[in-house]
Amino acid sequence: MRVAVFNTKSYDREFLTKANEKYHHDLHFFPFHLTKDTVSLAAGFPAVCVFINDYLTGEIVQQLAEQGTRLIATRSAGFNHIDLVAARECGVTVVRVPAYSPYAVAEHAVGLILMLNRKLHKAYNRVRDDNFSLEGLLGFDLHGSTVGIIGTGTIGLCFARIMHGFGCKLLAYDVQQNPACLELGVEYLPLTEVFTYSDIVSLHCPLLPETYHLVNSETLQHFKPGAMLINTSRGGLIDTKAVIEAIKCGRIGYLGIDVYEQEENLFFEDLSDTVIQDDVFQLLQSFPNVVITAHQAFFTRNALTNIAETTLRNIKEIEEGKECPNVIVAR
Ligand code: NAI
Repeated sequence: MRVAVFNTKSYDREFLTKANEKYHHDLHFFPFHLTKDTVSLAAGFPAVCVFINDYLTGEIVQQLAEQGTRLIATRSAGFNHIDLVAARECGVTVVRVPAYSPYAVAEHAVGLILMLNRKLHKAYNRVRDDNFSLEGLLGFDLHGSTVGIIGTGTIGLCFARIMHGFGCKLLAYDVQQNPACLELGVEYLPLTEVFTYSDIVSLHCPLLPETYHLVNSETLQHFKPGAMLINTSRGGLIDTKAVIEAIKCGRIGYLGIDVYEQEENLFFEDLSDTVIQDDVFQLLQSFPNVVITAHQAFFTRNALTNIAETTLRNIKEIEEGKECPNVIVAR
């Protein structure tokens, strides 16, 4: 199928081109986002392929349909960037990649924990500066620590297994218990109790109306003083301003985030020559006990291979009129 592939970086082109050796789609790569200013470039393409920071509003979906597009393939699990109601009304099918590598995200969460605990970000710079002092680098054993997991689905389970390997005591909160976690010895408790007893809290639940600002000024009162908070899930799970206050008063002793509420204005681009206008983000960056990565938890060779393979297979199945399990419809 002829596919207009928007918002592509070098790595997207590399992995999609490789996977396409098997599918033989006619891929046209565009480096820019799909927006109302660029949507006309998709004219005549039966399929468009997008990423999580291409916001496909009703207006854009309608224009795509009027220009002949019948399929939107997102290279992501999340689909809240696409107006599904508009897609259904315009007769446009939407497909996604529901899972690509839970290990990638779980391992990145563990990376943030190790970095914050053993202050590897500081140690790296110190040694490069010939400063071999250990002052201020004191950490704690993960073995024997209590780790709270919020959301024990695919990624939460991978994370639980890794932390179990470290010898941590595991607590969890989820709206439904995962038998594999129970088998591992995970103890399910109400949310506030998980916060109360955990040395480290890691968020692995989706962003939904009921999980929006799950960590807020009220729930932060339940955290152990000096606790570590890790978020590799979605920025909106945390009220950033409330967390800043909690860091200032020592309630939160470490913060590791791969996602940020206002990340669409920042992440995935090189802004090193720009004055960042987001004061909240800049304040967070200034704290010594905060580590931020720019939504890279998924970013492994394995995950990109799976994303490319599933995206192109989705398009092939739709093209051939076969049943595609990864179609999403408006509820
Ligand atoms: P999943 O659907 O397998 O698991 C989500 C879990 O959250 C389920 O067990 C579900 O019952 C639970 N949950 C639902 N509502 C809840 C609530 N109100 N409170 C507590 N738990 C609740 O999803 P998966 O694959 O484990 O992904 C988790 C999240 O990771 C995704 O929603 C996404 O936001 C994030 N993610 C981040 C990536 C990154 O690169 N940083 C990449 C991929 C996913």
